[in-house]
Amino acid sequence: MAEHSAEFFAKCFGRVPKWIVAAPGRVNLIGEHTDYNDGFVLPMAIERYMVVAADRNANRHVTLHSITTGETARFHLRPSLEPGEPIWSNYVRGVIAGFQRHGERVGGFDAVIDSTLPYGGGLASSAALEVATATLLEVITNHTLDPIEKALLCQQAEHDFAGVPCGIMDQFTSTLAQENHAVLLDCRTRKATPVQMKDPGVTVLILNTRIRHKLADGEYAKRRAQCELAARMLKRSALRDATLAELLKARKGLDPFVFRRARHVINENERTLQAAQAISTGRWQTMGRLMFASHESLRDDYQVSCPELDILVAIAKRIPAAEGMIGCRMTGAGFGGCAVCLVRTEAVRHITRKFEDAYEQETGNTVEIFASRPAAGARVLNWAPPARKRQGA
Ligand code: GLA
Repeated sequence: MAEHSAEFFAKCFGRVPKWIVAAPGRVNLIGEHTDYNDGFVLPMAIERYMVVAADRNANRHVTLHSITTGETARFHLRPSLEPGEPIWSNYVRGVIAGFQRHGERVGGFDAVIDSTLPYGGGLASSAALEVATATLLEVITNHTLDPIEKALLCQQAEHDFAGVPCGIMDQFTSTLAQENHAVLLDCRTRKATPVQMKDPGVTVLILNTRIRHKLADGEYAKRRAQCELAARMLKRSALRDATLAELLKARKGLDPFVFRRARHVINENERTLQAAQAISTGRWQTMGRLMFASHESLRDDYQVSCPELDILVAIAKRIPAAEGMIGCRMTGAGFGGCAVCLVRTEAVRHITRKFEDAYEQETGNTVEIFASRPAAGARVLNWAPPARKRQGA
């Protein structure tokens, strides 16, 4: 990807890029819609990246070429940046605005953006672009941010420039993930506990429906508001602090939907803590059970799944443990996107085929399936242009 983006940069701008940065997407193993409730999440970064090749320019403009969409964004670096077109450029604009807020003078630069992350596929492609941009601006301004501050700056960009009131999980994972580890993140204290995931006998599969239902963003904000309402009714600062017993006691006074949203969050936090334990001790069957339970709760209580994701999880449920299935659930915000599935490595081919066949039979569509090991967070790539090109030959 580095070479590809460097070549593209040279084609667009007639010189070699000075820097190439990469930021990974993520898959959340469990702990869904808990981050903005001060709760727990258990994501890992994946081997799918947003790569940005860039160099300063001599003016006050930013020019961005997206290799994947073929679009170009060009804007002037005024002190108060505004959202603009194309939509994806807002993730970059928002992060520049964050650096400016920190008092950094960001000069003009040219960049090309390449990606192996499906846009809008629930694998945090927007967070990856934000974090890649922040990583680039760190080298451009020569100012390294504290990693948590960096994740928060990127989250703010998403709030202000994309209008999505997201939690911290995606930006945090893309910034701080460690190779061969998932991370148990306490979203209140921001304490991150690495959870080793390098058992070669277990493989993480990501199943992409390539569907994105329109309601996604509006419903996300609605869920967040319902959770905040539930917390207020329970006289807690966040649902993280509420117990199931308290919620059941307050049930009569709560709107039934608000009750169900809160029940999901309270149970999901508990499942996430148990899941971290299960992975650390290699109790994969327990992990699988927790994943299926998480999906049911997201489908029935939180109501953020969709028929295609439910079909994938139902297919998984029909594959017995003896054939290598561990567990499966929707991952990310929902209303389309991806499911995550843990399987025994020796069964990867068999299970992949089962998913492909059954999904096509039931939906008439194809599902894209790939495996990923837990990857490391964003970094500046140690990249040098090939010698031949450097000599201008
Ligand atoms: C999106 C948000 C995250 C998180 C998930 C749901 O990915 O960006 O902050 O809320 O949805 O768990």
